[in-house]
Amino acid sequence: MSKILIRGAKVLGGEPQDVLIDGETIAEVGAGIDAGDATVVEAEGQVLLPGLVDLHTHLREPGREDSETVLTGTKAAAVGGFTAVHAMANTFPVADTAGVVEQVWRLGKESGYCDVQPIGAVTVGLEGKQLAELGAMNDSAAGVKVFSDDGKCVDDAVIMRRALEYVKAFDGVVAQHAQEPRLTEGAQMNEGIVSAELGLGGWPAVAEESIIARDVLLAAHVSSRVHICHLSTAGSVEIVRWAKSKGWNVTAEVTPHHLLLTDELVRSYNPVYKVNPPLRTEADVLALREALADGTIDCVATDHAPHPHEDKDCEWAAAAMGMVGLETALSVVQQTMVETGLLDWAGVADRMSFRPAAIGRLDGHGRPVSAGEPANLTLVDPAYRGVVDPAGFASRSRNTPYEGRELPGRVTHTFLRGRATVVDGKLA
Ligand code: DOR
Ligand code: ZN
Ligand code: ZN
Repeated sequence: MSKILIRGAKVLGGEPQDVLIDGETIAEVGAGIDAGDATVVEAEGQVLLPGLVDLHTHLREPGREDSETVLTGTKAAAVGGFTAVHAMANTFPVADTAGVVEQVWRLGKESGYCDVQPIGAVTVGLEGKQLAELGAMNDSAAGVKVFSDDGKCVDDAVIMRRALEYVKAFDGVVAQHAQEPRLTEGAQMNEGIVSAELGLGGWPAVAEESIIARDVLLAAHVSSRVHICHLSTAGSVEIVRWAKSKGWNVTAEVTPHHLLLTDELVRSYNPVYKVNPPLRTEADVLALREALADGTIDCVATDHAPHPHEDKDCEWAAAAMGMVGLETALSVVQQTMVETGLLDWAGVADRMSFRPAAIGRLDGHGRPVSAGEPANLTLVDPAYRGVVDPAGFASRSRNTPYEGRELPGRVTHTFLRGRATVVDGKLA
């Protein structure tokens, strides 16, 4: 394998340095490294980050290959600067057996654009009634550590308790989509002033917060580890902050869209803004940013949720929930967290690579940019300004809320174990 010299990049936003990749590994980090026979990537003014890790991606294969496949989803991930994604279990068939998670894992191996770590379902068929074969999924080639019924909440407290107890055997974690189902029947958007004015069924903050409160208590009760998916309210932040202050093993994620967008956008009735959990208020957005900055929220996760246009280009009530996010995540984080002064690039590396890899217990990702480490790297040009054009997406789906918006920053190169998956912003 060849050598690559990344020259003059600000490593984690610090002083410009050279980084020499030899084969799959970072060979050297320092000033004035001799290029020798290496291919040189001039990176002056650019920021070098550890390859981004997504804890929450919907790849849709098997079963909904019309919206995304493992191949198209991993291409989108690479374009977004990701070197590893966790694939959610709400596929058809559901990833609730060793057989299905191994299939997804194998498709990820074949892709070569980004590592794919399958998430296993907590319950059979995501039905919330019977625990899935958590042990067999962990034992399989996929080595599943993260379990989630995402899309649905594990609302039965006894099932949730049993899952939390079970995953302790192999240091696993249950990732909860916190949504009390009875409180969100018929819900179409955030419950508040806008829903009242529009006459749309409201999705109250308490539907999320009550489940989070219950689950941090359950995790503490059985000394297990719970991860809360896509926090969306200021109250959720308060509960997670309280749980962490107790020393409980609780982690949480926030999506890029919940860091930027509010329910005011629903006034357009454009279903591109329809998502679960729903877009909330400005006060929620600001609380989520603060919490990501102070570490109450551990990481950013995309909840990349591709849908074909026939499921989104329809009236609000009939539209599917979800937004694609892999290809715009880093830009949204730059705008909402870096350019607001809330987080520096080292903080971005922590929230988008180190922390999510640690929560998922993922080997070989979320490692420091230093000699001897796997060369999973993302090079970003923060000075770039561009307008989002979904026609250019690598994802098979186009349901982005950012179409026509100017966002800062661009991933110029992504390296997966020393191999460039993205060069000059284009798939290699
Ligand atoms: O908006 C969402 N879309 N939220 C979820 O929890 C599921 C996801 C999907 O699968 O489309
Ligand atoms: Zn979810
Ligand atoms: Zn999701």
